[in-house]
Amino acid sequence: MLGGQLLYEGKAKRVYVKDENTLLMEFKDVVTALDGVKVSQAPGKGVLNAALSAFFFRLLESRGVNTHFIGYDGGRVLTVRRLKMVPVEVIVRNYAYGSLIKRLPLYKPLSKLGKPIVEYHYKSDELHDPLILPEDILNTGLMSGEELNTVNEVSLRVNEVLSSELVRYGLTLVDFKLEFGRDANGRLLVADEISGDTIRVIDAEGRHLDKEVFRKGGSVEDLIIAYSTLARRLGINVGFRCT
Ligand code: C5P
Repeated sequence: MLGGQLLYEGKAKRVYVKDENTLLMEFKDVVTALDGVKVSQAPGKGVLNAALSAFFFRLLESRGVNTHFIGYDGGRVLTVRRLKMVPVEVIVRNYAYGSLIKRLPLYKPLSKLGKPIVEYHYKSDELHDPLILPEDILNTGLMSGEELNTVNEVSLRVNEVLSSELVRYGLTLVDFKLEFGRDANGRLLVADEISGDTIRVIDAEGRHLDKEVFRKGGSVEDLIIAYSTLARRLGINVGFRCT
């Protein structure tokens, strides 16, 4: 339990108000899959995902991508900028997998896409985060045309940065999800988390170092091994503090 008012509790995180402009994002030791139907305790997961998110946000900031990240000092909590979140999930895909194949089984699993696909999903548990069109975003005012262009460009830039970094460690970025928020000046920043829960990464043998392990029926222990392996491969030193 952190100091400060609890602003939001989701499936995998709690968000607290630190001050007017700053939030604390606490990663829980819980793993969910199948739209929240499969829920398990996963000791160690919170610290791993906090450490992985900090790593990826720092990397993006170092390459000129603006994110909500402020700081991380180990443990399960990230300090982030307070934003107004845009209720759209942006998915970038380099290889066919997951819901893309479910939607269109013509795709061969893990076949490389001619160029990355950027998808938009409306964030709604009730509606199961449906795929939406850019036109839907504009017509409903979820984002302006200019904002949509920015989100598209930034998402593709994030893809370049993450893909090229992971390749250095012999890893392949299959796909990932981003969320964006607006700061007080209306500037869009990459927000939420970038962790084993929100990316798909495979090693040279095709082993998943991400949540796919759990989605496919693997145990919580398998999941922790996958996330720890990803962290170790990236040279992240994870302190297993459980407070
Ligand atoms: O399931 P799907 O193939 O659409 O997932 C694409 C990518 O987006 C995966 O890396 C998955 O981990 C991520 N994702 C997510 N949160 C969701 C849906 C997908 O992080 N609600």
